[in-house]
Amino acid sequence: CGVVGVTGNPNATEILVSGLEKLQYRGYDSAGIFVDQPDGTNYLVKTTGSIADLRKKISPEVQGTAGIGHTRWATHGGVTIENAHPQFSSDERFYLVHNGVIENFQELKDEYLQGAHFNSQTDTEVVVQLIDKFVKDGMSTKDAFNQTLGLLENSSYAFMLMDRNDPETIYVAKNKSPMLIGLGDGCNVVCSDSIAMLNVTHTFLEIQDGDVCVVRPNEVIVNDPTGAEVDRETFEVSVDPTASDKGTYPYYMLKEIDEQPNVMRKLSAKYLDQVGQPVITPALVEKLRDSDRIYIVGAGTSYHAGLVGKAQLEKLTGIPTEVHVASEFAYETPLLSEKPFFIFLSQSGETADSRQVLVNVNQKHLPSLTITNVANSTLSRESDFTLLLEAGPEISVASTKAYTAQIALEAILAKAVGEAKGVAAAQTFDLKGQLAVVAQGMQSIVDEKNEIDQIAQDYFVQANQAFYIGRGIDYTVSLEAALKLKEISYVHAEGFASGELKHGTIALIEPGTPVIGIITQAGTAGLTRSNLEETAARGAQTLSIVRQGLARPDDTFVIPDVDELLTPLLSVIPAQLLAYYTSLNKGLNVDLPRNLAKSVTVE
Ligand code: G6P
Repeated sequence: CGVVGVTGNPNATEILVSGLEKLQYRGYDSAGIFVDQPDGTNYLVKTTGSIADLRKKISPEVQGTAGIGHTRWATHGGVTIENAHPQFSSDERFYLVHNGVIENFQELKDEYLQGAHFNSQTDTEVVVQLIDKFVKDGMSTKDAFNQTLGLLENSSYAFMLMDRNDPETIYVAKNKSPMLIGLGDGCNVVCSDSIAMLNVTHTFLEIQDGDVCVVRPNEVIVNDPTGAEVDRETFEVSVDPTASDKGTYPYYMLKEIDEQPNVMRKLSAKYLDQVGQPVITPALVEKLRDSDRIYIVGAGTSYHAGLVGKAQLEKLTGIPTEVHVASEFAYETPLLSEKPFFIFLSQSGETADSRQVLVNVNQKHLPSLTITNVANSTLSRESDFTLLLEAGPEISVASTKAYTAQIALEAILAKAVGEAKGVAAAQTFDLKGQLAVVAQGMQSIVDEKNEIDQIAQDYFVQANQAFYIGRGIDYTVSLEAALKLKEISYVHAEGFASGELKHGTIALIEPGTPVIGIITQAGTAGLTRSNLEETAARGAQTLSIVRQGLARPDDTFVIPDVDELLTPLLSVIPAQLLAYYTSLNKGLNVDLPRNLAKSVTVE
């Protein structure tokens, strides 16, 4: 979900709606805004569907200098107008938007709100009704807000509350979910992601978990969890607003796929010097060099990039490396080594599952690095070190350039640490040269779009299921390739260790089922080919993504030769494009697939 708020600006409505447009990638099943108008009438507009649908419903005449808005990714309650935010109290005095989850909402409802009428099935409505109840019991709005916050157990929230009796004030509270206050000229804004408000301000206040704030046009008061008034640090966000333009592309995803060669060149220029030596903060390299085990944590595509990172780090540094799904690691932490080092991979830097692991890591005072695409994101601010992906904004929900950027940066980091440890494989690794080959190779693949489009039409558009298979590093790419297909084309796809297929899953192969073998590693190429043959013998439509040095005349996609630790940077590209064209040919919204959000800020 995403939240936005503004106070003290006559263009409040437009600021809210255009802010929500920027945050749409965080959730887009429904949306709404509330603006208090000078004549005392309220203005609440909600819709199921996209922000474009919301915009259509908004009257251009709306006046009002303060308001709040929300774009939803449903957690409690289906996708309906009633469940969209803002939620409001029964007498329509209080309006609330919320990102996060209130775990004990049912208990609170039973204990405090017996007999009250509810409009929605949301956990959020319980909160706004509770605030209203405490005010009716005689408390001030601020005290009622604090009192309610004190009752929320194990909950995550970014709240913005408006009281129609005090229409210029926005009450803000944050715990676990991202929230920033932007400082404008005679107006202030609040948002879950700075990208929403860059047309109003570039200066943001970093608020922390447990903070409660009062935001007015000319003042921001921040109280820490003890109630003491505190000064929080500000930071500047500079983003080239044109970087998030779609240009002439039909979808962001295609633009982002095409940007990958350039991202490789940018990473190489930033993190490798003229002679190919890594340029990485020495303190970070030392911490990693001295660790006895590396723990990589991520979700979704970032987790898959971590699986490639494990191979690179182990080979180039000799340090044992584990990769964990963030949502599992947070609550089933494995036994840690004596000197662990944590690497968080997160395109957005906001994923709640990963952030929860970081909170645990920080409580134990263990060292950590975040590799992210977003400067000043929560994970970046809260870990000891940050490396930025420099991939430019990634808007399409299905991640592409962040995956390849993460893999390239992990390789650079592994080389830096390996060299510091004197590992020969790192010292002799011509990463700069190899990344140049990768960039060229990516370009040659993205130039073959028509051919890939045709293959999508021939084999995938009608398919009910598909399999990507491979071994070792190719297996990890199979997982990512299958995820791409699932996410945007809704073809049920699995990535499989090719040798494991025969132990059960091969039963699913039917005549025509597409099975794509990823074959880039000399040591296992023959074995994967045999496994592919086994599926062909059972009627599968086999295809292959093969590194040139291992290719045969009938292979489907031949990718240029690069070092075996970097092949995922190339083998994933045909898979990204296959997913794209399958989705496109099915007439789906490639960038905004159903049920998903780009940045998931709830656990
Ligand atoms: C969401 C997105 C995925 C993404 C995952 C992790 O589920 O839909 O595409 O891989 O979050 O996101 P992160 O920003 O932490 O890399």
